[in-house]
Amino acid sequence: MVELHDSGTDTLRHVLGDVERILIDRGRIADRIESLGREISADLAAVPGDVEVILIPILTGSIIFVADLIRHLPQKFRISVLAAQSYPGRRTESVGVPVLGVVPDDLAGKFVLIVDDILDSGGTISRIRAELEQHNPRAVRVCVLLRKQRASALTTACDYVGFDIPDDFVVGYGLDYDGYYRNLPDIGVLKKEAL
Ligand code: IMP
Ligand code: MG
Repeated sequence: MVELHDSGTDTLRHVLGDVERILIDRGRIADRIESLGREISADLAAVPGDVEVILIPILTGSIIFVADLIRHLPQKFRISVLAAQSYPGRRTESVGVPVLGVVPDDLAGKFVLIVDDILDSGGTISRIRAELEQHNPRAVRVCVLLRKQRASALTTACDYVGFDIPDDFVVGYGLDYDGYYRNLPDIGVLKKEAL
């Protein structure tokens, strides 16, 4: 007989112990994603002619965001993931952006929506946009849940932003530090001693 433990609650207790404060709670995140979904759907509906839409979520940080966002997008679309690892290990500063994964080879004429967790230096989005544009899509749009208040983020072209946040390192709702904390349902700032 297997013993069942409430491991979810236990995990969260460990995760929460390292969090200094919650910046955006799960209720605000859910409300904002619903309105982002409405905004994106309205824009897609306004595109003239038949348009084939492809969503490109950037792993790993966007997994929870994209899972929630697509349930507010009633259109027909495909999903094809790419990965970028700009903060390998215990870093809070970007160190260049290798793009991993297979760019779909049939992007010509399609409407591409890149979905990422956070716009920080802008390196990831710029790099991935440049890669995708080589395949002659009809349009490339960018949607991020968070955007930091720093010049490089604010000058990177981005069509949909969930929340503008201060230039702090944040975790939760898919965002990690050293691979941890993605399971925190809210977005928070870590204690100094956890970094
Ligand atoms: P950028 O290339 O500097 O814009 O960084 C974007 C990527 O770095 C995001 O997709 C995140 O995975 C990661 N990142 C940037 N800022 C944070 C943060 O505050 N917390 C967790 N991950 C971050
Ligand atoms: Mg990350």
